[in-house]
Amino acid sequence: MKSYTIEVTESQRLYGNTHILWLVEPGAFVSATPGQFVMAYCGEGWDPLLGRAISIHRRRVTPDGRREFALLFDLVGRGTDWLARRREGDAVRVVGPLGRGFEVRERVQKMLLVGGGIGNAPLIWLADDLVREGREVTLVLGGRGTPQIFPAHLLPPEVELVVATEDGSLGEPGRVTVPFQRLLSWCDQAFACGPDAMFEALYRVAADSGLRKPVQGLLEARMACGLGICYSCAVFPKRGGVRLVCHDGPMFDLRDLYG
Ligand code: FES
Repeated sequence: MKSYTIEVTESQRLYGNTHILWLVEPGAFVSATPGQFVMAYCGEGWDPLLGRAISIHRRRVTPDGRREFALLFDLVGRGTDWLARRREGDAVRVVGPLGRGFEVRERVQKMLLVGGGIGNAPLIWLADDLVREGREVTLVLGGRGTPQIFPAHLLPPEVELVVATEDGSLGEPGRVTVPFQRLLSWCDQAFACGPDAMFEALYRVAADSGLRKPVQGLLEARMACGLGICYSCAVFPKRGGVRLVCHDGPMFDLRDLYG
């Protein structure tokens, strides 16, 4: 993969504390798949030195034929604050696309997507692709409250949306594990992205169901290099060994981590 300094085409706060940045897509991104990420370098020169690992959120082709991709991120510190202040025409350096994305089986139809908080970001692109392929998509989005929930009107209309909020301000009260448990028998394949605690809870629901449904989780981890060099993203499966989120993932079958 290469480093690209690319132009911002659109920048806006999309909802709550969450910002979207659209960028001109380098030609090498044409073969990228949902679940892959970029390292975005959030500053001029070498300060800060390290990039931020951010999933590719969505892709589009403009009316004049230009390919663009989007990053969706919460404002949580100096780096993301810098990114959010980029405006049309500004430049951002990224390295990517990186990692192993979701692996969608052929000839299956019913797809269950589960996102917690900003974990919704890569699932939106996956939903776009699955709908385009004519598959049925149910998307479960969860968060502490309404400000953490991706706006429904920005989803493809074919997506069946289920919302769960911990404070009960939108959708059903509680966590995503409840609708996940309800919908697991319906789906052919399940995909998830969110915090570690959510993955462990989803794994437990799937294991207890006895349905043997594969659930692919897209792990979020602090990454210093994104290239399999520094080991800052190491995770330790229950069965032993070590895996690197940036290199072996970020997509893992939850059974390989928690089983
Ligand atoms: S981020 Fe450096 S090894 Fe994964």
